[in-house]
Amino acid sequence: MENSELTRQSKQQKLIDELIDQRLSINPNFFDAELITALHQELVNLMEEDQLRAAHIGKEQQRSHIRAIRGDAIHWINGDTEAQRRFLTEMRQLQEALNQQLFLGLTELEVHFAHYPAGMGYQKHLDSFQNNNLRRITIVVYLNPDWQEDDGGELEIYNGDEVIATVLPLAGTLVCFVSEEFPHQVAITKRERFSIAGWFRVRDTAGLPAG
Ligand code: OGA
Ligand code: MN
Repeated sequence: MENSELTRQSKQQKLIDELIDQRLSINPNFFDAELITALHQELVNLMEEDQLRAAHIGKEQQRSHIRAIRGDAIHWINGDTEAQRRFLTEMRQLQEALNQQLFLGLTELEVHFAHYPAGMGYQKHLDSFQNNNLRRITIVVYLNPDWQEDDGGELEIYNGDEVIATVLPLAGTLVCFVSEEFPHQVAITKRERFSIAGWFRVRDTAGLPAG
């Protein structure tokens, strides 16, 4: 087995072990620097070509109120480019390992680029709710080549009212947690902030005929 393949597998195993112990895992330098650079450049290009759209929350929120709660603009990742396909392949390998070791039955990954302009954040929220928990595992990947503590924009992860982890959005870091268990927020960023957010999901059974 190649060295890089071994490294990938051991990083993946550390993530899964932490997920088992803490239901949350923070992984600096999870990805190849080269892949992260390519994804960052793509997101910058998408922004410059006006290919990003204001993010939504819930169903019937009024547009004018959204940006106070959630200030990012997004672009869904569908595997349109080489870098996106490499990223999705790695995430599919992670999905398979999660299914093998944790029996999660994950079937899909929905994932988007996100850009927060300076002055924006995302208020405390949960990614999944009891009546709508098809999203099982949250992933967040950061694309910012350098980030200082006073740049803001930290991801703050809660256990109830208490912040249990603060993560700087530094290029290459992968955060992973059980979606319905951890409220979290993006602190107001002082610089523009580039990231990827995604959710491993299970299939919806709501459409099945009544038994
Ligand atoms: C989200 C989210 C966190 C981050 O998009 O739901 O919580 O650090 N993102 O970007
Ligand atoms: Mn979230």
